[in-house]
Amino acid sequence: KGKRAFIAGVADDNGYGWAIAKSLAAAGAEILVGTWVPALNIFETSLRRGKLDESRKLPNGSLMEITKVYPLDAVFDNLEDVPEDVKSHKRYAGSTKWTVQEVAECVKEDFGSIDILVHSLANGPEVTKPLLETSRKGYLAAISASSYSYISLLKHFIPIMNPGGAAISLTYIASERIIPGYGGGMSSAKAALESDTRVLAYEAGRSKKIRVNTISAGPLGSRAAKSIGFIEKMIEYSYKNAPVQKELLADEVGNAAAFLVSPLGFCRDRKRRICR
Ligand code: NAI
Repeated sequence: KGKRAFIAGVADDNGYGWAIAKSLAAAGAEILVGTWVPALNIFETSLRRGKLDESRKLPNGSLMEITKVYPLDAVFDNLEDVPEDVKSHKRYAGSTKWTVQEVAECVKEDFGSIDILVHSLANGPEVTKPLLETSRKGYLAAISASSYSYISLLKHFIPIMNPGGAAISLTYIASERIIPGYGGGMSSAKAALESDTRVLAYEAGRSKKIRVNTISAGPLGSRAAKSIGFIEKMIEYSYKNAPVQKELLADEVGNAAAFLVSPLGFCRDRKRRICR
């Protein structure tokens, strides 16, 4: 039986989420995606109008099918969390059931269960500010969107995940080394994400035989990365210092993610939870 994957954090064809979706689709998985509510309209329109068809091409020539796109805002766990101004915001008012709990309920209603959960999202409203200039609000927003969102997704999706299932997220080396410019508490958020991955792997592994991993990915000129402001420098640095000097392709990280959530990744994560 084919696996079913839910990939949170896909809103265009430039980021890691898209590449992971393609890699999983190429391996035969059914693809569901969760798209940030404010980005939903453009993404669905692009899909409908065929603007992403070139990028949907899989190695065998067929096009990746996305079975369903769910609106999602991973900073809200349920409706009680949502403030009035967000509820009535024009970009949000057009969609319903986009809190994490509601999305998990919808997926359960539509498909019953999933096998693979992918967290490919982050947001740090003050990412361009040094940590010393970051406000409490900005710091907590970064942690909420980029770290707690993984906990929340797991918490709500684990009940509908089949035993033997797996989850993966994406982290960045600024968690453990100083990368000046990766600010706003995003370095802290990635450190939390990595530490949480170890604890979540233990808890989900013991309770439901579900594996939890994170990949520390190299720099990619995605939409999110461009808002950091110096992604070109990050890419250049990485290229200069990489053992094999070549451009990093999103697909390579996509393939690593697909491997880790597949049965092939099983023994690997007994040794290390964080794979580079
Ligand atoms: P991306 O822009 O393709 O993905 C980020 C996604 O998060 C977007 O689709 C955005 O709409 C979504 N998002 C933001 N806030 C959200 C919320 N509250 N609820 C739901 N979705 C929300 O960019 P990228 O770079 O592919 O990011 C994916 C992951 O990869 C992130 O965790 C990022 O930190 C990580 N990463 C990226 C690197 C890079 O250089 N691009 C390097 C290492 C890790």
